[in-house]
Amino acid sequence: MRFDVITLFPEMFAALSGPGITGRAFKQQLWELGLWNPRDFTHDVHRTVDDRPYGGGPGMVMLADPLEQAVEAARAQRPQSAPVMLMSPTGKRFDQAMAERLLHGGGAILVCGRYEGVDQRFIERCVSDEVSMGDFVLSGGEIPAMAIMDSVIRLLPGALNDADSAKQDSFNESLTGLLDSPHYTRPENYKEQMVPSELLSGHHAKIAVWRRQQSLALTWRRRPDLLRRAREAGLLSKADEKFLATLGATPD
Ligand SMILES: C[S@@+](CC[C@H](N)C(=O)[O-])C[C@H]1O[C@@H](n2cnc3c(N)ncnc32)[C@H](O)[C@@H]1O
Repeated sequence: MRFDVITLFPEMFAALSGPGITGRAFKQQLWELGLWNPRDFTHDVHRTVDDRPYGGGPGMVMLADPLEQAVEAARAQRPQSAPVMLMSPTGKRFDQAMAERLLHGGGAILVCGRYEGVDQRFIERCVSDEVSMGDFVLSGGEIPAMAIMDSVIRLLPGALNDADSAKQDSFNESLTGLLDSPHYTRPENYKEQMVPSELLSGHHAKIAVWRRQQSLALTWRRRPDLLRRAREAGLLSKADEKFLATLGATPD
C-alpha cells in the first residue's frame, strides 16, 4: 500500500505517520508515503505555484505545470499504476466502498488543492477522479487526503489490534452496509443510566440480536438510503424484515 500526496504543506502529513493506528501501521511498514511539493517543480526564483484567475475574480489558482510535474514524479516512484485523485468539493462524495477499492488497488496519488482550486487543464490531463469529503468547503485538500488515507490504512490486515472491529463498523458493505449499533463500557450505572440488560446477559446470541436490531433501527431512522441499499443487495434476513415491520419500516 502506497500513497503519494501532492501538497504545498507536506508537514501536515506527520499527523498520519506519527500517532495512533495509522502511525503504528506506518512503523510496521504496512504502508508507504511519498510527499511531493509542487514548489519543488517550479523554475522561477519565487517558486511560484499559483496565479490570478483568467476572467478576474477573487483569489488565486494553482498552476497546472508544477502539479503535472509532481504527479509525473510520483508516478515514476510507484510499482503499479494508480488513480490520481483530486480533492475537490465538486467531486464525487467519498465513501467506504471507495476506501475498499483503494485498499484492493494498492493506494493512490492524492492531489491537494489550495486557494480557489487548480487549473482545469491539469484536471483534464492528469486526474482520474475528483473526490469530495462532503458539502462544505475547507481551505485545502490536505485534511480530505488524510481522511481518505486513514479510512484505507485502518482496513489493512494487521493495522487494527482486533481485526474484527472494522467488520463491525458502519458502512461495511460486504457484511451489512448498515450503521453501527451503540456502544457501552463500564460502569454499568452511569448517573442513573443503565447499560441495556441484553449486553449484560452474557448470552452471545441475544447480544447479537440486540446489536443487529439497534443497527437496523438506527439506519432506518437516520439513513433510509442505506437500508434500501442493504435490502436491494439481499443483505437483510427474514428476521431483520420481521423486526423492521414492528417499526413500520416495510419495503416501499
Ligand atoms: C477553498 S477550496 C476551493 C473551493 C472551490 N473554489 C469551490 O468552491 O469548489 C481549496 C481546496 O480545498 C480542497 N477542498 C475544499 N473543500 C473540500 C471538500 N469538501 N472535499 C474535498 N476537498 C476540498 C480542494 O482541494 C480545493 O481545491
